[in-house]
Amino acid sequence: MLPSTAQLRQTGGRELKRIVFEEETIAARVRELGRDITAAYPEGDLLVLGLLKGSFIFLSDLVRRIDRPLQVDFLVAASYGDSTVSSGNVRLLYDPETELEGKHILLVEDIIDTGKTLNRLVALLRQRGPKSLSICALLHKHIAEHLELEAAFVGFDAPTLFLVGYGLDHAENFRHLPYIASLT
Ligand code: IMP
Ligand code: MG
Repeated sequence: MLPSTAQLRQTGGRELKRIVFEEETIAARVRELGRDITAAYPEGDLLVLGLLKGSFIFLSDLVRRIDRPLQVDFLVAASYGDSTVSSGNVRLLYDPETELEGKHILLVEDIIDTGKTLNRLVALLRQRGPKSLSICALLHKHIAEHLELEAAFVGFDAPTLFLVGYGLDHAENFRHLPYIASLT
């Protein structure tokens, strides 16, 4: 159910247009992803690395569906420049404290749009000597011109709309919605 108009008036004047992925649809897909990830990884340490803030809800649901030992850490990346245009110039605001060397790293991202953020992060993380590096993205817009590393696990192919909810935001709003919706 979409929030009431009264609630939306408090949300930076932006309104939700329609629900694109329902809560139940997401839950079912996350269960499948958990199974796929469980089956895909051989022996060895697995570190699930969430890219904040957008992945926080997805990651917390996903790790509970992965049936093998793992560790969780996060990283916070910021791109310089205009906040609505991905500049591809990324720096780490929070660098994971967990050792990455020799571990299977599964980088969890909310959505792949231009892919610039991920391309820079992949280059950075490869320098840390992980045993393997893979990407799990909840949503993939498939518009990136070049991806250093294609996502091994994708929740849904996303329409090229601006999506919010289930962790995704517009100006920090809407992250708490249990479904994914498009903005008007
Ligand atoms: P990229 O570097 O262009 O791939 O941008 C990826 C980041 O931009 C994501 O992690 C999101 O934080 C943000 N982003 C891209 N598209 C959307 C969207 O439709 N809704 C909300 N955030 C988005
Ligand atoms: Mg993000």
